[in-house]
Amino acid sequence: MSPLDIDHVSLYLGQGSQRFLALQDISLSVAAGEFVCLLGPSGCGKSTLLGALAGHLEATQGALRLAGQAIHGPSPERGLVFQHHTLFPWLSVLDNVAYGLKMRGIAKAERHQQTHDLLEQVGLAGFEGKPCSWPTASWS
Ligand SMILES: Nc1ncnc2c1ncn2[C@@H]1O[C@H](COP(=O)(O)OP(=O)(O)OP(=O)(O)O)[C@@H](O)[C@H]1O
Ligand SMILES: [Mg+2]
Repeated sequence: MSPLDIDHVSLYLGQGSQRFLALQDISLSVAAGEFVCLLGPSGCGKSTLLGALAGHLEATQGALRLAGQAIHGPSPERGLVFQHHTLFPWLSVLDNVAYGLKMRGIAKAERHQQTHDLLEQVGLAGFEGKPCSWPTASWS
């Protein structure tokens, strides 16, 4: 069995008259270390499949498995980088970066230490307390 196994997956999005079959009978296996690109026109379901792999969407039919374990929700073992930036505008730089560690139950002192180290690595030391929202540009 391949580490990542997408097995006859169909997935509906939306409700009622808006219900839409976004994925129809998709099967795909990915080997360990294999690099796979999903190519297709806009709206063909690429993000829907990635959302199902991330555990944000539940397949209507079929199964998604990682290392033999069925995917039924998000997990730190599966990362998803969104098409658009996804920051919490009401949280500081530090709290945005520390959010994943907080969700994993890492104690505050430890997650702040790890976050400081990460920000330092990318040249953002000193910006911990800054907001993450962009100021509205004003043109005159
Ligand atoms: N909530 C929803 N209800 C009904 N249909 C939806 C809903 N969300 C998305 N869709 C439709 O599902 C289809 C698949 O969308 P998806 O975002 O997965 O496409 P994509 O291949 O990632 O496109 P893009 O290249 O533009 O990112 C699209 O046709 C979209 O209009
Ligand atoms: Mg997309």
